[in-house]
Amino acid sequence: MRPLLAPLEAFAYGPAYAYLNYKIRSSEPLDHTTIWEELTRDLPPVADWVRTSWPIRPLRSFLLGAKMKQDHVLGIAAHYDVSNDFYELFLDKKYMFYTCADFHQPDETIEQAQQHKADHILGLIDPKPGQKILELGCGWGPMLRRIEEHTGDKENLYGLTLSKEQVAYNDQHNGFHVEFDDFITRQYEPESYDTIYSIGAWEHVRPKEIAPLCKKLYAALKPGGKLVQHFFCRVPDPLFATAICSQLYFPGSIGSPYRSHIKAFEGAGFRITHRSIHDYRPTLRAWFDRLVENRERALELVDVQTYNRQLTFFPVSWRYFDDGLGMLVRWVLQKE
Ligand SMILES: C[S@@+](CC[C@H](N)C(=O)[O-])C[C@H]1O[C@@H](n2cnc3c(N)ncnc32)[C@H](O)[C@@H]1O
Repeated sequence: MRPLLAPLEAFAYGPAYAYLNYKIRSSEPLDHTTIWEELTRDLPPVADWVRTSWPIRPLRSFLLGAKMKQDHVLGIAAHYDVSNDFYELFLDKKYMFYTCADFHQPDETIEQAQQHKADHILGLIDPKPGQKILELGCGWGPMLRRIEEHTGDKENLYGLTLSKEQVAYNDQHNGFHVEFDDFITRQYEPESYDTIYSIGAWEHVRPKEIAPLCKKLYAALKPGGKLVQHFFCRVPDPLFATAICSQLYFPGSIGSPYRSHIKAFEGAGFRITHRSIHDYRPTLRAWFDRLVENRERALELVDVQTYNRQLTFFPVSWRYFDDGLGMLVRWVLQKE
């Protein structure tokens, strides 16, 4: 079955998608050295031309459009509701951030790098005790924990996630006000938050949803409030051929172009007061190495396909940033 599916998928979704899915479907855990090398190396020009040209442009939006009809909630659950213990194997031990860290030195640990990131975002949020703060897509609650460390105020911290496992983790370990709810479709009380922020969740907002969501969040902030964002956006405006590969990891989500985010932020009335660019690649390599170090335990916790999917996710994403197709940006957006 596996060898039969590969040529069909190559025809429909392109060789990069078919190759990845072929590897993920392997009944054996993938060899980490080979897979990193295969997915990050430069290909000969003809092979690279095929990889970056098929599906042809008119087909890309059509195929992705069909994939975007998938249920968003199910797509998120497919990625996150795997096993909290599995994620604990490769994320930083202190906070469990599943988002790009800041490596100040190449030999830093993922723990040190996530601490730098948490401190940087803390500076951007600049929280004060008593302020009502909401995180969109709060994961296992790492940034809420950093804010609480700083302000000592847990009562005013809120989070939303579409992962039931993450809600259970929060209830067991953190005790913030974390709800299972879709931050895109949610109705927000007007002028109810001092700060709203998101770290690595805006990537899940589909292109058509961005502008209306920005307006909704603007209305949900108190006058003088701010929206702090950390997410990666697409650098080329038109869809590139390998964009469809994202569906293997996040079914139903697709990143939007950089300039469309700016248009949506400013169109909602926000003033951009901070914008910085960060490098995702060292974090992806650090997670990959940690997962490999914990391979035996990982394979006790999840099936081989889940392990293979996660293992390929890191080099594929590394390649995406190395090719300059995506860019990680932090923003502060001020409501006047
Ligand atoms: C990459 S994780 C980041 C988690 C956390 N912010 C961190 O820094 O580790 C993305 C998070 O966004 C959440 N998410 C994505 N789309 C969502 C939506 N529409 N509504 C609520 N949560 C969403 C996922 O459930 C997950 O918790």
